Amino acid sequence: MKILIFENYEKMSKEATRIIAAQILRYPDSVLGLATGSTPMLTYKRLIRLCEEEIISFKKIKTFNLDEYLKIDIKNPASYHAFMEEVLFNKIDIDEKNWYIPNGNAEDIDKECILYDKKIKEMGGIDLMLLGMGSNGHIAFNEPGTSFSTRTHVVDLEENTIRDNSRFFDKLEDVPTQAITLGMRSIMESKQILFMASGANKAKAIRDAFEGPISVDVPASILQLHPNATILLDEAAAMELGR
Ligand code: F6R
Repeated sequence: MKILIFENYEKMSKEATRIIAAQILRYPDSVLGLATGSTPMLTYKRLIRLCEEEIISFKKIKTFNLDEYLKIDIKNPASYHAFMEEVLFNKIDIDEKNWYIPNGNAEDIDKECILYDKKIKEMGGIDLMLLGMGSNGHIAFNEPGTSFSTRTHVVDLEENTIRDNSRFFDKLEDVPTQAITLGMRSIMESKQILFMASGANKAKAIRDAFEGPISVDVPASILQLHPNATILLDEAAAMELGR
């Protein structure tokens, strides 16, 4: 695990962009794992700019998102579907049939979970997985206590995750209480992990994840065992490290 600390969110995002762009340039048909949320926003903006400048192209890139709420209208701007279209897919040259997001409205949700993992396998696995982390240590929507052997599955969201994510909805009651998420095992099978966290509200979870014991109580702690993980932090998120 390589931990890199940057002065601020902008510098951290610049490095994330550099790593992703380098992957795309070297392997133009890469399979990327993508996260939603606030953390990757600037990275996506910078990738869009590189695409507009024709420095990189997503034409042959395939992407798999980590998660989606259950039973949310995909036209709802707070759905991860709408979010990804708005912040990235509509602004780059990716082929519509090459991006995948779990279908939270599937009639048979268990089947959808199996098919999602199968699709990733069919595409040769995820080459580079971009991850954020919740303030409770969750990665994707794998909440504390999730077994490290899970594949794509349905989860009940924790109260503080619902509270954290309510900023994307009109009111707290509108936040779905369940989601479909890539499992811990599916994440760990990615060939390379690019993890990002910024802000003081993540500092305690960062310390627990990367300096504490590997434990299901802190899902991100499993990344200590990944053979090719890069952890990008800004100074605020890193402030509890080494104490
Ligand atoms: C999103 C996801 C989540 C977020 C995490 C951090 O697809 O999987 O695990 O990465 O909740 O969210 P932000 O970046 O909004 O702090």
